[in-house]
Amino acid sequence: MSKPAYHIIGNWKMNGLKADLQTIEAIAGGGQEFSGVICGLCLPATLLSAALLKPGTSDSFWIGGQDCHQEKSGAYTGNISAEMLTDLGCNTVIVGHSERRAYHGETSEVVGEKAKAAQSQGLNVIVCVGETLEERKAGKAAEIVNNQLSTALAAGLSTTGLVIAYEPVWAIGTGETASLDDIKEMHRTIRAILSDYSDANGENVPIQYGGSVKPGNAKDILGIENVNGALVGGASLKAEDFLGIIEAAAALSS
Ligand code: PGA
Repeated sequence: MSKPAYHIIGNWKMNGLKADLQTIEAIAGGGQEFSGVICGLCLPATLLSAALLKPGTSDSFWIGGQDCHQEKSGAYTGNISAEMLTDLGCNTVIVGHSERRAYHGETSEVVGEKAKAAQSQGLNVIVCVGETLEERKAGKAAEIVNNQLSTALAAGLSTTGLVIAYEPVWAIGTGETASLDDIKEMHRTIRAILSDYSDANGENVPIQYGGSVKPGNAKDILGIENVNGALVGGASLKAEDFLGIIEAAAALSS
């Protein structure tokens, strides 16, 4: 059975100024050289327009937002809608990142609604799931991830253009990564949920790992069964580091 292409997507979070557009250009230009790997960047909204004008940020390189509102428009000060992202020329959005869940109180129901809204605008959607350290220590990691994913899918998500990112909260931005065995186990659990959800397409949904992925650990992590990419925070801010991760994916897929 064929497996999904590697999806290596950077999440710049609340980082990046106009001066950093050159980094975006270096990443997008460099990423084009690796066939068989889908690469992209989810940027602060303030950089999206300018990023979309850079050479290399075409359809094969994903440019997207880090969140979208579940409604199409309205009195939601500070928010952006999926339609606004599509209108700009973006093809991707992240929903349900643990920082959105923790600091903005987003529930898995809301995450499902956001993902559904994004799909209705034709965006690729990266749905993030992951347990906290307390939840893992309590032996509840699989249960939490199962709940988060099943609840989001219950919004009626299509498997087309859907990407799941497993990001253990305690591994994000900490330099810690989950053990290769823990990643393998959780990705197998996620694959089983996706296959139950869609017999025909569950196998084709890419499952990314996220949490302190760097050039130095990318090969080991991406080599695990059912790991079909990475959602990369810190290491996506430097072209050299991010391209190193893309290169590791390209080497594994050739
Ligand atoms: P990190 O972030 O690579 O800096 O750990 C990953 C993420 O939050 O998506």
